[in-house]
Order: sequence, then structure tokens, then C-alpha cells
Amino acid sequence: MYERVRAIIPAPMLRLATMARRSYRLWRVRQRLAGMPEPEPGSQPVPPPRFLVDWLGIGGGDFGSIGRQFVGYLRDYCDVRDGASVLDVGCGLGRIAVPLAQHLGSEGTYMGIDISSEAIAWCRKTITPLYPNFRFQVSDIHNAAYNPKGRMSATGFTFPCADGALTCVFAISVFTHMRPAEVECYLEQIARVLRPTGKYLLTFFILNDESTRLIREGKAQFAFAHDVGGCWTANKAVPEAAIAYAEPDLRRMLADAGLDVVEPIRYGSWCGRGNYTSGQDMVIVRRT
Ligand SMILES: C[S@@+](CC[C@H](N)C(=O)[O-])C[C@H]1O[C@@H](n2cnc3c(N)ncnc32)[C@H](O)[C@@H]1O
Repeated sequence: MYERVRAIIPAPMLRLATMARRSYRLWRVRQRLAGMPEPEPGSQPVPPPRFLVDWLGIGGGDFGSIGRQFVGYLRDYCDVRDGASVLDVGCGLGRIAVPLAQHLGSEGTYMGIDISSEAIAWCRKTITPLYPNFRFQVSDIHNAAYNPKGRMSATGFTFPCADGALTCVFAISVFTHMRPAEVECYLEQIARVLRPTGKYLLTFFILNDESTRLIREGKAQFAFAHDVGGCWTANKAVPEAAIAYAEPDLRRMLADAGLDVVEPIRYGSWCGRGNYTSGQDMVIVRRT
């Protein structure tokens, strides 16, 4: 029914309706943030409302349990302990930051960076007052899915961290929305800010023999049917909605940035495989 109504509405009107809906949601987010009181000292950060999670496009599943799951991976695969200094690239609404706050202790330092001003406003309002060592920074970087009006390019971005300063860097469900030149720039930045013994946890959609077979069999969440130059997208209109890399290309990009994969890659369930660790493919990397 919805599709039939859409089909008879002229395209310019549909675009106008989409813009109006987006502006209304943005307004609701800003109203909600403006009206929120400072959190009580000693309380727990409030979880973001579902509409905000959906509006930003954080993904499905239980927000709290996915965050805790990733803190477990950071502890087990990247040795993130009490007192660690970490960078969360594309931190979103603090899904990882909140459970990590209990894990890092007051000696640890956390920096979350993102391109969504609403996401960073949420984190600053709900997390930093309770955990002052958790800081958040926004950059107005363009991304067709997450910040279509952004004025800067990800390809020239410098992370706000000193060389070799960090124990761990992670980017969860972020390179799944970025083009090759952007990923290459971020990998170089990650290599720059990490200590020689540090590790990164990165997630991707990886195309290899198994995932492409499962895509052909119709078992995958995304088909990644469109080649958009060095990567594949599931959405031709907004390629950044979901981007995948062929495994040899990804390995080459990592090697070019001076990074070694800590084997094995922990493949995800996104393509319908039965034996998986998480939803996306998880790659642990360290400096060569
Ligand atoms: C699917 S969400 C994941 C958020 C968070 N990592 C998590 O797991 O909850 C993708 C996030 O990446 C951010 N993002 C997209 N492009 C980015 C870029 N070039 N630099 C930093 N963040 C970016 C988006 O604004 C969004 O918050």
C-alpha cells in the first residue's frame, strides 16, 4: 500500500517530504537535548531514546548488550584494561563509551569522535558530566548517509590525538560507511596515534569466497551489488548507507598503512554464515 502511494507522488514532492521529515526529527532531537537536566552525580548515563538510535542509524539489536559485547572484545582481543587510553572513531551515541566507562576507571582516558553534532551533543550531555575523563569531539565531515551537509572531507582529517599516544583505537560500524580514500586516510591516522604495542579493533563488511557465495544464495542482509570504485554498496542512491570491501583490497589497504592483521579475522553473521563472532567482520590490527 505504502509503496503504491509513493509511486504516484511526484519525485520533487517526495524529496520535499523526506527533507521535512528529517528536519522535524532533528528539531525533536534538539528539543529533547535542550530540555534534559544535568545527570545526578553517581547516577548511570541514560540510554538514548529509540527514535534517536533509529534516526542516527546506529543499527538494530539491543543497544546496551551490543555495547557490553564490544567492551568484552576490546578486553579480550586488544588488552584494554583499567587506565588505558582509547580513541573511539565514529562513537555515535556512546554505545561503547557507556559500558567502557566502568571498565577504564578514572585513570583511563577516552576520546570519542564523530561527524554527527547531535550524537556528540547527546554524549556530552549524558556521559561527560558523570565521567569527566570521557571526552567527545565533533567534526563537520561530509558523509552522504550521516552528515550530508558536512563541509569537510574525511580524506584530509587529522585525529585530535598526539603521535603514539593511545593504547587502543576502535572503529565499530564506521568503515562500513566510508569510501576507500577516506578509509585509507583514517588507517594512516590510526597508525599514527597508536603506541607501537597498541591494537585496533575495526569492523567491515568483507567480500570473500564465502560471503559472496552466501550473497548469491540470497542469505545475506546486504547484497552489495553495486561497484562504486574500489568498494561495493548495497544502496546505489546513498552508497555510504552500507559499504563492503573485497578481502584482498582491504588487506592491501591495511598493509599500505603499515598495519598487520592479527589473525584470524573474526567473520560476522551479516552474510548469513553459521559460524560467526559478531554481526560485522571484525579485524584486529597492530602496527607492522
Ligand atoms: C552505525 S553508526 C556506529 C556508531 C558507533 N560506532 C556504535 O557502534 O554504536 C556509524 C557512525 O559513524 C559515524 N561516521 C560516519 N562517517 C564518519 C567519519 N568520516 N568520521 C567519523 N565518524 C563517522 C556516524 O556519524 C555514526 O555515528
